[in-house]
Amino acid sequence: MKKVLVTGADGFIGSHLTEMLAARGCEVRALAQYNSFNSWGWLDDAACKHDIEVVCGDVRDPAFCRSICQGVDTVFHLAALIAIPYSYVAPDSYVDTNIRGTLNICQAARDAGVGRVIHTSTSEVYGTAQYVPIDEKHPLQPQSPYSASKIAADAMAMSFFNAFNLPLTIARPFNTYGPRQSARAVIPTIISQIAAGKKQIQLGDVTPTRDFNYVEDTCRGFIALAESDRTIGETVNIGSNFEISVGDTLNLIKAIMASDVEFLVDEQRLRPEKSEVNRLWCDNSKIRALTGFNPEVSLEEGLRLTVDWFCRPENLKKYKTDIYNV
Ligand SMILES: NC(=O)c1ccc[n+]([C@@H]2O[C@H](COP(=O)([O-])OP(=O)(O)OC[C@H]3O[C@@H](n4cnc5c(N)ncnc54)[C@H](O)[C@@H]3O)[C@@H](O)[C@H]2O)c1
Repeated sequence: MKKVLVTGADGFIGSHLTEMLAARGCEVRALAQYNSFNSWGWLDDAACKHDIEVVCGDVRDPAFCRSICQGVDTVFHLAALIAIPYSYVAPDSYVDTNIRGTLNICQAARDAGVGRVIHTSTSEVYGTAQYVPIDEKHPLQPQSPYSASKIAADAMAMSFFNAFNLPLTIARPFNTYGPRQSARAVIPTIISQIAAGKKQIQLGDVTPTRDFNYVEDTCRGFIALAESDRTIGETVNIGSNFEISVGDTLNLIKAIMASDVEFLVDEQRLRPEKSEVNRLWCDNSKIRALTGFNPEVSLEEGLRLTVDWFCRPENLKKYKTDIYNV
């Protein structure tokens, strides 16, 4: 892992992964999605931005993907459209970015002779748990167009290992949280509304359970997968093996923020009934066995770090706490 490419480096997890790789001495080529504002997303805030190569472009463009994979040892492919609500209204975009984008990166990595590819999946592909904890053999259930696009992207990526021996691993993170996450996700939604001084906060369903992971643990999981040859051709969960409901997570955050805020269910935040993933709980024994990876940050500690970050005015002002962020 000398020269690495991170796609989605402008985003939440990708920006933390870029910082971690740069701190470990990797030469990082970081892809930010091209836009006319010359914004590098969260990389604009990253201290390492002068020590890395930032390229702007789009994974939907095969020629562009070929150019950025040149001279690279390892590709971490995180670029994706990830909002579930937006996938209800714009599913074609999810096919273009998540499936075709993954095809483009795999083809480009193969052509360039890249040594390792880590493709990013998601626990959403499992849908509501049929058994817990969820191991990698759990059936896949496309409960949203987002999930469907990731199932297809994973299959496309794995076909490049099977058909062409591309040295590829599918990393399957469970819910990740921390500084910089979009307020579309539940933990930033709760924290940003409380930090903005609201007495009542708007949420969706609080009964589903999740396996929440602090972003640095998820990034350590990505790196552990890339550093082990035993993970080539494997799909591997990254998670904590700790299940908690959204409602209990809200109570933890209220305690950390010393808040007695009430919550209201906002109808527009509810998923259609069959689309709601009611239960996610990660069996992380495979990543532990293959790489020795162990999550290091407890939920309470990670929430404290996240609350500290959101409560800084320069960070909070980047969030629109008065509207529902999709
Ligand atoms: N956040 C989570 O809880 C979670 C859990 C499991 C898996 N994942 C996966 O991790 C990856 C990163 O997610 P995130 O939470 O950081 O989301 P994010 O939206 O912050 O990051 C995704 C990035 O991809 C970029 N992107 C989108 N379309 C692009 C395109 N056409 N070309 C180039 N770049 C494009 C966006 O600019 C964005 O910054 C995704 O693949 C997601 O599916 C996230």
